[in-house]
Amino acid sequence: MKLLYFTLLLVSLLLSSSFLADATVAPAPVPVAGSCNAMCSARCAKAGIPKRCFKYCCVCCDKCKCVPSGTYGNKSECPCYRDMLNSKGKSKCP
Ligand SMILES: *[C@@H]1O[C@H](CO)[C@@H](O)[C@H](O)[C@H]1NC(C)=O
Repeated sequence: MKLLYFTLLLVSLLLSSSFLADATVAPAPVPVAGSCNAMCSARCAKAGIPKRCFKYCCVCCDKCKCVPSGTYGNKSECPCYRDMLNSKGKSKCP
């Protein structure tokens, strides 16, 4: 009987530790925030100053939850992205 308890204890320990590991490896499911990185890397792949492009793209993506496809243009795919302006009244998003 003792062996059974020991086995159960061991199994539950293994299960809970693997749940904990899962929790630390997989971040909370944020469907779009995660892919802003990917979408903005694609968007800025050909930018003159990729780092700056990426930075602004991420700002816009965080707000708008979308990034137009391609490395330029296509902004009508994401009107929020298209309509974001910087302090000089110019399009903020690359
Ligand atoms: C728009 O997106 C397509 C792919 O979806 C891309 O090939 C194209 O270069 C992008 N830009 C313009 C201005 O068409």
